[in-house]
Amino acid sequence: MLVDGRSLTAALDPAKSRLPSDRERAFLQTLCYGTLRWYFRLDLILQQLLRKPFNKKDLDIYVLALLGLYQIAYTRVKPYAAVAETVAAAEHKKWAKPFLNAVLRSYLRGREEFDKIVDRDDEGRTGHPLWLLRELQHCWPDHADAMCAANNTQAPMVLRVNRKRCGREDYIGLLRAADLEAFPVQCNPEAVQLVDAVDVDRLPGFHEGLVSVQDCAAQFAARLIDAQAGHRVLDACAAPGGKTAHILEVSPSLDELVALDINPERAVKITRNLDRLGLRATVLTGDLLDPSAWWDGRGFNRILLDLPCSATGVIRRHPDIKVLRRPEDIEALSETQRNLLEAAWSMLAPRGLLVYSTCSVLAQENHEQIARFMESHQEVREIPIESHWGIRCPRGRQILPGESGMDGFYYARLSRDR
Ligand SMILES: C[S@@+](CC[C@H](N)C(=O)[O-])C[C@H]1O[C@@H](n2cnc3c(N)ncnc32)[C@H](O)[C@@H]1O
Repeated sequence: MLVDGRSLTAALDPAKSRLPSDRERAFLQTLCYGTLRWYFRLDLILQQLLRKPFNKKDLDIYVLALLGLYQIAYTRVKPYAAVAETVAAAEHKKWAKPFLNAVLRSYLRGREEFDKIVDRDDEGRTGHPLWLLRELQHCWPDHADAMCAANNTQAPMVLRVNRKRCGREDYIGLLRAADLEAFPVQCNPEAVQLVDAVDVDRLPGFHEGLVSVQDCAAQFAARLIDAQAGHRVLDACAAPGGKTAHILEVSPSLDELVALDINPERAVKITRNLDRLGLRATVLTGDLLDPSAWWDGRGFNRILLDLPCSATGVIRRHPDIKVLRRPEDIEALSETQRNLLEAAWSMLAPRGLLVYSTCSVLAQENHEQIARFMESHQEVREIPIESHWGIRCPRGRQILPGESGMDGFYYARLSRDR
């Protein structure tokens, strides 16, 4: 992924499928996630240890060095084993074995000193690229350090119980019977947090639709949209369908829920998810910006606009964001979001409600976007979100990563007078 810009999941899945046991797959995942989580710190440590930078053709050895440093600094792998295994993995390049041995042993000998040096550097201290750290400090001066610390932790596995099929306490009982420890999360009536993450195959009734995996912050959308019997609802950026399914689970008989997504492969996942949960919606592959191709012109009473965004609120789950995202992406994303909001708004029925949401923590994608939109649309009225979670923004509400264990998320509710 460092070479071709693929996401960590896309790069890791094929590699994991080649390993024979769950244990090995889990270890590979821990190594890759952890190394990327601390990439900016580990890279700086490595720079202290090198006499000259790596050649491009030796990227494999560079990555091995990072993996070795990660194991020494952040895991319970015995240091001598971390060194030995890393060196052994360089079998294909003879010169690299003594090189890696020397680099990792130097770190082991002078660890405290090297750590102190990188602690004096903002990227090294926080494990975030400087441009992103500055953005976070600009948007959230009092919270930036805590946010970086939260971003560097492992996210909990949170479930959403399908209460059409099973009560929350009953499901916790099923988990207990399967030797899985879990507790109810207060923020949301369907949310259950597992003490230890597991593969979904181990979740009782997962394939029968009793439960889905969804962070607590994402579970606010279905209630904020306030869909009522007879309403026509559009989930405008729906795939893979987490929020579509939740709306259907908690809303009384809707007239119709249209779940739209531009990406055909992702749209298939909506149908698959709904089938698993025993739910029905009109699933369409289409571009929100080109409604003539899929819209019959009838206004929607409710629209959920869960936009593509920088995903800076979910870095815990996707540490590769810190490496892959570029500063110029934010302006481009903000422009896309502006266009998508304009398009969705034009489909909202009079007195309808639109919920705008992102898993970003950047003002440009969130409250500044809403403020700008409201300046150019006199008919928009913000319906403030009164809640015990999140931080009130000039427009909308922001959950910062780590608040009550949640992902970072932004929500705003807009209604139209005419
Ligand atoms: C944040 S994800 C949505 C997650 C989803 N709401 C859920 O809870 O499972 C954003 C989605 O927007 C879709 N998207 C991006 N541009 C779009 C467009 N012009 N029209 C429709 N969907 C679009 C992407 O394919 C992506 O699946």
